[in-house]
Amino acid sequence: MRSPVPDYLDEVRRSCADDGDEGEVASYIPELADADPERFGVAICTIDGTLYGAGDDEHRFTIQSISKPFAYALALADRGLETVLEHVGVEPSGDAFNEISLERNGRPRNAMINIGAITTHTLVGEADASPAERVERIRSGLSAFAGRELEIDEQVYESERSTSSRNMALAYLVHAQGKLEGEPHDAVDGYTKQCSLLVDVRDLAVMAMTLAAGGRNPVTREQIVPAWVCRQVLSVMATCGMYDAAGDWMSHVGIPAKSGVAGGVLGALPGQVGIGAFSPRLDEYGNSVRGVRVCERLSRDMGLHLM
Ligand code: DON
Repeated sequence: MRSPVPDYLDEVRRSCADDGDEGEVASYIPELADADPERFGVAICTIDGTLYGAGDDEHRFTIQSISKPFAYALALADRGLETVLEHVGVEPSGDAFNEISLERNGRPRNAMINIGAITTHTLVGEADASPAERVERIRSGLSAFAGRELEIDEQVYESERSTSSRNMALAYLVHAQGKLEGEPHDAVDGYTKQCSLLVDVRDLAVMAMTLAAGGRNPVTREQIVPAWVCRQVLSVMATCGMYDAAGDWMSHVGIPAKSGVAGGVLGALPGQVGIGAFSPRLDEYGNSVRGVRVCERLSRDMGLHLM
């Protein structure tokens, strides 16, 4: 006999798929354009480390922008709040993920949009870390959040590298403002590798629950980052995680969240639950249409809204 939670998750998944098939698979990274638009997985992880999944819950996809809060967490843990705040702000941009979004002092507005995430990437690890050491710190750090060893999808990495002029322009702009540590080329290359880490929705649910549990992975029981880091990361996710749809998301769904262009969505409700969802078709803001629907439904059914 199946337990009620997977049955419930399966029903949620089916009803969200039946709601229509609007949205477009991301195509600006050539390798992502080949994704099967019908893939759809969902997983939740509770504070005691119990993990439930439904649908394509073991299908792997690239983490993309969902890596941003975790790289931000590692930068905060490695370099401290003051140093990170010197380089990247905490204000919502209200802009698309790839916009030029700088404060008057030249600091990117926040770490959830590309310009801030590329800057944040350079703050992970020791101040004098080599580009390769930094990437390895990010790979192993995100693996600790997930509770298993994550790998880079080399094809997606190469594919995005060949189309990263805009990110390169953003990095040069921050460099010109004196806010980027190291070389723009290394920053974009490392950030692109960071975005190409492969995860499934079960990984996302555990990563989310780790953030929502003050930095302690509920499955491996390892303390990954200090609790103050998670409070900072969740605050920025709450206000900036869903880009220019962040206000609508917060009032409607009420869960700190982050999306990625491959179709992943992660939701982290402090002290309660981690959510991972995946489906490749995106709305006009770059958020997974079905991933957003799943989060809306879970929030409504389980009373997950923070307010
Ligand atoms: O930098 C980029 O364009 C991608 N590697 C990540 C963008 C992304 O995931 C935006 N999310 N919705």
